[in-house]
Amino acid sequence: TIPGPRAADLLCWYDRHRRVLPWRAPAGERPDPYRVWLSEVMLQQTTIAAVKPYFHRFLERFPDVEALAEAPEEAVMAAWAGLGYYSRARNLHACARAVAAAGRFPDTADGLRKLPGIGAYTAGAIAAIAFDRQEAAVDGNVERVVTRLFAIETPLPAARPEIRRLTQALVPAARPGDFAQAVMDLGATICTPKRPACALCPWLSPCRARALGLQESFPRKLKA
Ligand code: ADE
Repeated sequence: TIPGPRAADLLCWYDRHRRVLPWRAPAGERPDPYRVWLSEVMLQQTTIAAVKPYFHRFLERFPDVEALAEAPEEAVMAAWAGLGYYSRARNLHACARAVAAAGRFPDTADGLRKLPGIGAYTAGAIAAIAFDRQEAAVDGNVERVVTRLFAIETPLPAARPEIRRLTQALVPAARPGDFAQAVMDLGATICTPKRPACALCPWLSPCRARALGLQESFPRKLKA
């Protein structure tokens, strides 16, 4: 049998290849929860390249969660204009008001999930990245990485509970936030939908899809 994937191998790769992104703290430093939250909401349906200028402008206008909470709705919508999916902006504002009223961000995935517009993915991402909680953040990129690693034959969306369970089991107690972002970086730069760069992958040897030569055929999808 093939030994399973180890978080340590991915973290070692991340330490050498991590992408510099405006919401990431320098290696070893704790990121600002406000920036992590803002970036995760912006990145929900939007690419990194499109998010970057909005992220900077947003921080200039609303430097912290209190400033965002106190801003008029129109100012928030104006700063969001062009990013699309405007319910995200309305939820963001409602979320800022709830956090400002409470005096702090919830620091667990369960607590974060109760905020407006924060689903399982975003709650897991913020809890891991901002608060070092041992939580998984499973988005489409992570689904691709994990279905390939384990050659999961069940098609999407039925495979989601199994993917979640397998991903959660990989999350290390130490550096869970780096782990979450390392899986995202791996999915974006190595384990791509077409022609993945398997030769450069830190999880090449444990990858079952690759062992079968079938890396591009996961995740399985229901035929239309
Ligand atoms: N996509 C969503 N969140 C991300 C993050 N923190 N880093 C890179 N890509 C992401």
